[in-house]
Amino acid sequence: MFQTILTDLNDGIFTITINRPDKLNALNKDVFNELDAAMEEVYTNTAIQSVLITGAGPKAFVAGADISEFAGITKEAAMALAQRGQNVYFKIENCKKPVMAAVNGFALGGGCELAMACHFRFCSDNARFGQPEVNLGLIPGYGGTQRLTQLVGKGRSMEYQMTGRLIDAKEAWQAGLVNQVCTAEELITKAKETLLLIQAKAPIAVGKIIECVNVATISAYTNGKSGYDKEVESFGDCFITEDMLEGTTAFMEKRKPVFKGK
Ligand code: COA
Repeated sequence: MFQTILTDLNDGIFTITINRPDKLNALNKDVFNELDAAMEEVYTNTAIQSVLITGAGPKAFVAGADISEFAGITKEAAMALAQRGQNVYFKIENCKKPVMAAVNGFALGGGCELAMACHFRFCSDNARFGQPEVNLGLIPGYGGTQRLTQLVGKGRSMEYQMTGRLIDAKEAWQAGLVNQVCTAEELITKAKETLLLIQAKAPIAVGKIIECVNVATISAYTNGKSGYDKEVESFGDCFITEDMLEGTTAFMEKRKPVFKGK
């Protein structure tokens, strides 16, 4: 039924596997549409008790938004792209059934944001997290500026986003970005054990925990706009800079970008 994701329902656990391993599971429009449809299924199918999101292949959870889709798009289209991504991730975050990420490799940019939109995360010891958008002359656009700050605090969030550096599993655990680090072999088993533990609890109570914790992490509003709105606007602003064109072109041409502050 799906082309870019795999789904599987077993023991009440609905596993969604992002499945573009040759592109390190980068998120293109099709992945977003299918992830959205899969979450619709989670909301409506009473046989689904919990959700596990992971990536296909040994190397990546998700290496970010598909950079090849950024070429030549307008500020308005960029804002729509960010809004679309945020909306799909809100659907994950606001799901009343537990949604867990099993991060099995690179979780960069939109991939780190996907993991952070899940209710909590386990990762393999070869996982690498990061918000490297700054290397492209960009900022996170799928909620990363907000959720990373909530999870790791302001100082680490600023540093991680401004340097764009990769964070290994140990540091991610120390920073509070992941709950548990496992070997790659045991990751899915450990994740499913935890979901089964939660599935044995009262589902309405679990749903209420999700709602209440989400209220505690709603981002601040300034002049009627949330941090998420500000992120969409700022993401769009980056798309009219020369540096963004240089950053994304350099990535596609496999060379280092030269930024000019324009
Ligand atoms: N968008 C589109 N394509 C991507 C991608 C992305 N975010 N991340 C990886 N790919 C593609 C590469 O272009 C390459 O495709 P090709 O074989 O057709 O050339 C393939 O996936 C494998 O990636 P590659 O870069 O060759 O692997 P690597 O092991 O040398 O490096 C990364 C791995 C994750 C460090 C590197 O792929 C990377 O930096 N990706 C982009 C991360 C990023 O900036 N994400 C935020 C986007 S907003």
